[in-house]
Amino acid sequence: LSVWIVGVGPGDPEYLSLRGKRLIEEADVVAGFKTALAVVEKWIKGQIIPIDYRNQEGSLEEVGVAASQGKNCVICNYGDPNFSDKEYIERVRRACGPVEIVPGISSVQIACAKAGVAMESALFITFHKRAPIDDDKEELAETVAKGKRTVVLLPHTWDFMPQDIAKFLMERGIPGDIPAIIYQKLTLPDESDSKYPLSDLAELETQFSDLSIMIIPRP
Ligand SMILES: C[S@@+](CC[C@H](N)C(=O)[O-])C[C@H]1O[C@@H](n2cnc3c(N)ncnc32)[C@H](O)[C@@H]1O
Repeated sequence: LSVWIVGVGPGDPEYLSLRGKRLIEEADVVAGFKTALAVVEKWIKGQIIPIDYRNQEGSLEEVGVAASQGKNCVICNYGDPNFSDKEYIERVRRACGPVEIVPGISSVQIACAKAGVAMESALFITFHKRAPIDDDKEELAETVAKGKRTVVLLPHTWDFMPQDIAKFLMERGIPGDIPAIIYQKLTLPDESDSKYPLSDLAELETQFSDLSIMIIPRP
């Protein structure tokens, strides 16, 4: 194997694993979105291949070619690759063949740590994907209605943000006094958290960051 997808953590470089750091230092090629590369830039020694939403396939093909020439390639992934990056990993596999996934610390884990949420009592839902989200919306409404699990969710930037999620839940008959916590820019210098009843959240005019996580604690 010569391609690794390395989870670089949620923003603060202190959350990078020692294995991830070593792989990045030893890589001939380091690819990733600018935000992910920025976390680890001081350890990069090899060639950098930046990825953005428009050139994703092309850049990943470049990594695939480098790997086929025997170069060690690392693709940096924000947070942990196992959280809400399934489609991205599939694209990497199509372009580069077999890859090893090196876990990182997810922004979701930071949010759970702050909110005191155990994974086994939670349901994690991501709306941050290209695939249709209708089934996920139904699962969200059902789970909040049952009240047995805390829901941890990633909004869809900018189409299904916390306000839209609150409105959707209230349309489904969820009481407006149920609280939701929004964490923004976790581990970054300007991180913040705020808590609102769904009815207030639905009417809120402020725009949340594209780096936002919403938690609806079980009662
Ligand atoms: C495509 S998902 C990837 C998640 C990533 N694999 C992880 O484990 O954090 C991107 C979404 O993760 C969330 N996110 C990533 N980093 C964040 C941070 N530092 N603070 C809050 N949310 C974050 C946001 O909801 C963002 O839209």
